[in-house]
Amino acid sequence: MEISIERVRSSKLSQTDLTNIPFGRVFTDHMFVMDYKDGTWQNAKIEGVRSLPIHPANLTLHYGQSIFEGMKASKNADGVPLLFRPEMHAARMNASAERMCMPTIDPELFVEAIRQLVYIEKNWIPNMAGSALYIRPFMFATDEFLGVAPSETYKFIIMTLPVAPYYSKPVKLFASTQYIRAAKGGVGEAKTAGNYAASLLASKQARDKGFDQVLWLDGREFKYAQEVGTMNIFFVIDGVVITPPTDGAILKGITRDSFLRILEDRGYKVEERPISMDEVFAAHQDGKLNEVFGSGTAAVAVDVMQIGYRDQSIELKPSTDSLAQMLKNEINGIRNGQVSDKFGWIEPVLEVEIV
Ligand code: COI
Repeated sequence: MEISIERVRSSKLSQTDLTNIPFGRVFTDHMFVMDYKDGTWQNAKIEGVRSLPIHPANLTLHYGQSIFEGMKASKNADGVPLLFRPEMHAARMNASAERMCMPTIDPELFVEAIRQLVYIEKNWIPNMAGSALYIRPFMFATDEFLGVAPSETYKFIIMTLPVAPYYSKPVKLFASTQYIRAAKGGVGEAKTAGNYAASLLASKQARDKGFDQVLWLDGREFKYAQEVGTMNIFFVIDGVVITPPTDGAILKGITRDSFLRILEDRGYKVEERPISMDEVFAAHQDGKLNEVFGSGTAAVAVDVMQIGYRDQSIELKPSTDSLAQMLKNEINGIRNGQVSDKFGWIEPVLEVEIV
């Protein structure tokens, strides 16, 4: 499908300080937009970022048919934009679409739209270590209808945002034994808006208790760790790296997958298995809990410095030679071309045919 391009007359870039960017609030000049109607995707276009008119009966507002992705582009020393695992993001977007009864997108079109948009916005990619151009593809229902049924029309939009790391310091997690994120058979594996809305109250509760984020536990026993409100979770016990398995209730994190591959490649013992809070707290008691960290596209890798669970709390001392730091440096290095891309994760945006 041909993507038509209507460039903005003047860019906001010169008025933007790329060295001081709050996450999620600064948008580049252009966005990609495409409509789904009459059973097919159409009107693919890159245009200036603008507000969209919305009918009060828009299905998304009422029943939440909405999914998204989060990925990143960075650039190498020659200024070439580099996409990180775009095909895997396309596949996960389509898996989310299927779960939410929404139309899938040809992965080639998904990646081509990102390539063209990132090419046009390449001057917005920040240079600082750990910063990147965050890419937010999302799809939502546009039918004006109050029946509970899949929409027949949708919009797919890709926005790009210069960002610094999501967390600037180690985080404190509170494991909720009141609320749950997902149970097997639910929508936990889909990157759908409702999962994030559902995290807000539990995160607020965590913050009210002096923590930063919620650590979700399994929905049956409130015993096993699942993931954090904004990322997946890893525990290192006695040198073994353990992360909960993606069993249908946990987001299949692409950074999570990348970390597992890097760790295995470097010979670490890695286990994807259920891990209970009792095991984590006992390991801490025995002096064997080496570290805990979160992983995500926005967060990259962030150390956990405290975990609260029921009436107990443990504290950890993040160190500069932790696995989390190694993984963060490795993935950031791959992303900016300073570390060899031995896994074939990088797609340079070299030549883009813009019509
Ligand atoms: C991401 O890491 O890209 C996400 O979508 C998480 C969100 C909380 C920013």
